[in-house]
Amino acid sequence: MKIGVLGAGQLGRMLAIAAYPLGHQMAFTANSKDAPAAPLGRTFVNNNKHDAIKQLTNASEVITYESENTDVEIVKEINKTTDVYPGAKSLFTTQHRGREKAIFVKLGIPCAPYQMVNSLRDLEVAVEKIGLPAILKTATEGYDGKGQFVIRTKNQIEKAWQSMSGVEAILEGFVNFKRELSLIAVRGLDNSHKYYPLVENTHHNGILRLTISPAENISAKVQKQAEHYMQTLLDEMGHVGVLTIELFETSNGLVVNEMAPRVHNSGHWSIEGARTSQFENHVRAITNSPLGETDCLQQYCAMINIIGKHGPVNKVLELSNTHLHLYGKTERKGRKLGHITITANTLNEFKTTLSALEAFMP
Ligand SMILES: Nc1ncnc2c1ncn2[C@@H]1O[C@H](COP(=O)(O)OP(=O)(O)OP(=O)(O)O)[C@@H](O)[C@H]1O
Ligand SMILES: [Mg+2]
Repeated sequence: MKIGVLGAGQLGRMLAIAAYPLGHQMAFTANSKDAPAAPLGRTFVNNNKHDAIKQLTNASEVITYESENTDVEIVKEINKTTDVYPGAKSLFTTQHRGREKAIFVKLGIPCAPYQMVNSLRDLEVAVEKIGLPAILKTATEGYDGKGQFVIRTKNQIEKAWQSMSGVEAILEGFVNFKRELSLIAVRGLDNSHKYYPLVENTHHNGILRLTISPAENISAKVQKQAEHYMQTLLDEMGHVGVLTIELFETSNGLVVNEMAPRVHNSGHWSIEGARTSQFENHVRAITNSPLGETDCLQQYCAMINIIGKHGPVNKVLELSNTHLHLYGKTERKGRKLGHITITANTLNEFKTTLSALEAFMP
């Protein structure tokens, strides 16, 4: 099929790399001709956004998007002539932290207590209800921990509100977690579901640095619980394609943090680590093809993000059980430039390789 992607970053690039072996063609909208996905398909540059979207729609049989910050009205407009997956309901829900929390509550999925905040007065009331510490976040457009303020004492309330620059915000109770996990799943047009194993994520300065797959010591019961939450969300939203949920593991069980209606950085390991990658499964879902198996090919797998600088990448290529992915971006502080996948069948081999790549971790 002819697949169009709104956006042309590394996610679009890896979707294309997965789509070509299945015989699909790709096209993108991009902010510049140098975008990571641009070498992989027809690229319509957003000089005039409306025209670029029209050109993409005319060139595509099905459309998907890279970001939850995609304009819902644009998706609804495209959908009048061309199918867009995931649909407007998934996008509308996941681009606003308040709507996300409301659906968790509706479906009985544990999440942090929260209050929407539109003024300093709202924030004062919310702090009384939720208690401290708490995290104030912008309701929309946050990523990599941006647009967040951890409030520890009452005298920080005013500063926290000022840091939101007047936009709608959400106050969340602080979750005392043991570790951060994520679950990636895919739902097909025929209502079939596939789930990847829970993975463990480590962040630094708000940016994901390391994913371990599968997460260590996850009981079958906890995996099933996470899959159950995921299934109710997929079905409630009529989601088609990949959906990711980020969770906290606490002493009282799983607490869901947020979700993303797309392939996710914590699923990049699946390119080499799983029988079918998250990218291929997203492509399969939106083209109404059978979904692929999601089981792990090796005992141990990890993904290390390359942030800001590449460093000596030949060191990665010299190792026998690593795979290097560079996204064709120029170096810039805090930018996701690529990632490394490590696969191993023994714990010893796994640990040795992780240590050899220490220079890529903060
Ligand atoms: N309620 C909470 N309690 C404790 N820690 C939290 C809470 N919410 C967020 N955090 C911490 O802040 C990090 C970033 O928060 P969140 O995932 O909501 O933001 P984000 O900017 O959308 O991040 P990203 O786009 O990188 O996933 C989380 O990974 C977690 O470490
Ligand atoms: Mg997050």
